Amino acid sequence: MLVAPSILSADFAYLGEEVRSVCDAGADLIHVDVMDGHFVPNMTIGPVVVEGVARSSTKPLDVHLMVEDNNFFVDLFAPLKPEFISFHFESERHPNRLATKIRDLGIRPSLVLNPHTLPEVTEYLLPYLDMVLLMSVNPGFGGQKFIPDVVERAKRLKDLIEKRNPDCLIEVDGGVSDQNIGALKEAGVDVVVAGSYVFKNPKGYKEAIASLK
Ligand code: DX5
Ligand code: ZN
Repeated sequence: MLVAPSILSADFAYLGEEVRSVCDAGADLIHVDVMDGHFVPNMTIGPVVVEGVARSSTKPLDVHLMVEDNNFFVDLFAPLKPEFISFHFESERHPNRLATKIRDLGIRPSLVLNPHTLPEVTEYLLPYLDMVLLMSVNPGFGGQKFIPDVVERAKRLKDLIEKRNPDCLIEVDGGVSDQNIGALKEAGVDVVVAGSYVFKNPKGYKEAIASLK
C-alpha cells in the first residue's frame, strides 16, 4: 500500500519541516489539496506555496484539485511537475480532453469521484487515466468521518480496471485509518491519502505511516 500524507492536516506555520518529516517517516507521495472556495466551501494553497512544498519534499507530489476551473489550475500547477494531477468528474465537462492534456504535459492524470458518484462513469475514460481517486468523505475538509461505501465502490472499480486498463491505480481519500485500511487493501486499493491519521497521530508520523503499510 502506498501512503500519501495530506498536508492539509500539517502545521502550516512549519510547512517545510512537516513535509521533510513525513518524507523521512516513509511517505510515498505528498498529497496537496487545492481548493478554490467555489467547488468546495474551503480555500487552501496555490502554486506559490506548493513550489515551497516541492522544494522541501524528497517524494513526488500528488495534487488533488477541488476547483471549478480545472483547465486554469492545471496550467498553474503543471510547471511544478507533480507526479499526479487529480481533477473531479463533478466539475469537468470534458474529462477526456483534460486527462489527455495532463498526460501530454508529462504528468499522470487522475480522475476523482465524490463519495456518491458511480464508479461506472469511469469505464470509457480508464484508458486515458493513470489513477482513479475515490473520495471517502465529501471534499473540503480534513478530519471527517470515513464513508464505508467506498469499499464496495473500489471493488466495482477494480473490475472495470481489470477489463479496460489494468495499469490504472486506485486511490482512496478521506478518513483513512488503521480501522479501515484492511478492507481497502482487500478491495484492491493501491494508494491511500491520510491527513489527520498521520499528522495528528500521538504515536508520531513514522509509526502512523508504518501501521497503514
Ligand atoms: C478532503 C481532502 C483530503 C483530506 C484528508 O477534501 O481531499 O485529502 O485532507 O484528510 P483526512 O485523512 O483527515 O480525512
Ligand atoms: Zn485530497
